[in-house]
Amino acid sequence: MRISVIGCGYLGAVHATCMAQLGHDVVGIDVDAAKVAALAAARPPFFEPGLGELLESTLATGRLRFSTDIADAADAEVHFIAVGTPQLAGSDAADLSYVRAAIYSLVPVLAPGALVVGKSTVPVGTAAMLSHVIQPTGARLAWNPEFLREGFAISDTVSPDRIVYGVAPGDALAEAQLDEVYAGALAVGTPKVVTDYATAELVKVSANAFLATKISFINAMAEIAEATGADVTQLADAIGHDARIGRRFLNAGLGFGGGCLPKDIRAFMARAEELEVDQALTFLRSVDAINLRRRDRMVDLAREAVGGSLAGKRAAVLGLAFKPNSDDVRDSPALDVAARLVAAGASVRATDPKAIETARLRHPELHYVEDWTDAVRGADVVLVLTEWDDYRRLDPDAVGSVVTRRAIVDGRNCLDPVQWREAGWHYRALGRPPAVGAEHPGAVQPEAERGAEREADHVRGDVVRQQ
Ligand code: UDX
Repeated sequence: MRISVIGCGYLGAVHATCMAQLGHDVVGIDVDAAKVAALAAARPPFFEPGLGELLESTLATGRLRFSTDIADAADAEVHFIAVGTPQLAGSDAADLSYVRAAIYSLVPVLAPGALVVGKSTVPVGTAAMLSHVIQPTGARLAWNPEFLREGFAISDTVSPDRIVYGVAPGDALAEAQLDEVYAGALAVGTPKVVTDYATAELVKVSANAFLATKISFINAMAEIAEATGADVTQLADAIGHDARIGRRFLNAGLGFGGGCLPKDIRAFMARAEELEVDQALTFLRSVDAINLRRRDRMVDLAREAVGGSLAGKRAAVLGLAFKPNSDDVRDSPALDVAARLVAAGASVRATDPKAIETARLRHPELHYVEDWTDAVRGADVVLVLTEWDDYRRLDPDAVGSVVTRRAIVDGRNCLDPVQWREAGWHYRALGRPPAVGAEHPGAVQPEAERGAEREADHVRGDVVRQQ
């Protein structure tokens, strides 16, 4: 099929490349000339495993082009809208200006019978509104949410675990056109769900809300574990064996970040408020708050590890990306913690295998080093904030030989506490006991002790009454 993809950010660049790889004839359109030039030269403007190679091989087939000129999209049968919907400054709501701009730029070149397919994550009701803009051209609109995860973007696009089409009532042609686009995935039995516009829009935001809730649920359990001496990683393993719960997305730690989950749950709440059903989503306010509290706790653990004050202490930050295999630092918990350490007076050396340059753009005041060995040298405390394989595999003795003090805080529960403690480290993690058999504030006193205390209170009460 002849396909255009409007917007060549993360979603659009991957989608355009994968559609060409599947055999379609694709043009990717973006207003950013530098981005278009980079993609046309097989240089992805962000890090995604395998994308550079795939760009190179698909560009070589002649089926993939990139352009800044919307007129190059004119002869496409299907136009995907893949522009961003970031959080509006000073509000929880989504900024739809890029979606509107993409649709309005497309309208003059739309041919009757063409299908415009929204992929961007939008507030429910957006598709119905945009379909009126498109209608006079004789083209039609469908909504086809995308569920790709950064780091797995290619496999998630080529082999999705489900395909959702939101179509206008009675638009059987839209379903047939999309079936042709996704013929490969459908042929191997990928489930397809055909809905109305509103349901398709909601599928995306509710999936992200559910995932965010699952992460915040286990992080809430981490808070309880910290107060009681329990171990949240064992708790997650144990409840995860229940197939109804499942172990995936139950990793407690520094919480979720990135360009999707945080802004999508906020935009969902904002939309619910407009629809006067905000009570239905008040729990998402807690989900957001639990997630942000983990960052405070991480700084507290670092402070404790260096004896009570971070002022003048050297902290090594390992990891800046919001998750491994990504250079994305949008709403990254790791980068936020690094900045908070600086604000608390620590001297921070931060590193990441891929995200130093993206982090520098947002936090130029941080001191970045290329290599983790430079970050940890002379450190009073080491913080692991993104669970890159390089950091999971760190050797406690090798790291220990260059630090000033053997203190480590594991923000992703990705290290083995036994191994690190045996090597003489003060090891702390979110949701795990400070040490084997350690005292904790929530310990329930034995009945005998409580009886003795009650007795003492009684006597004290008598004394008070007598006075
Ligand atoms: C997410 C959705 O998974 C994807 O379906 C949607 O299309 C876009 O948003 P992504 O942002 O790439 O994808 O990241 P994801 O793998 O979902 O992780 C999100 C965040 O949650 C990361 O910061 C990650 O570190 C954190 N996370 C994930 C946890 O803290 N614990 C977990 O158990 C899983």
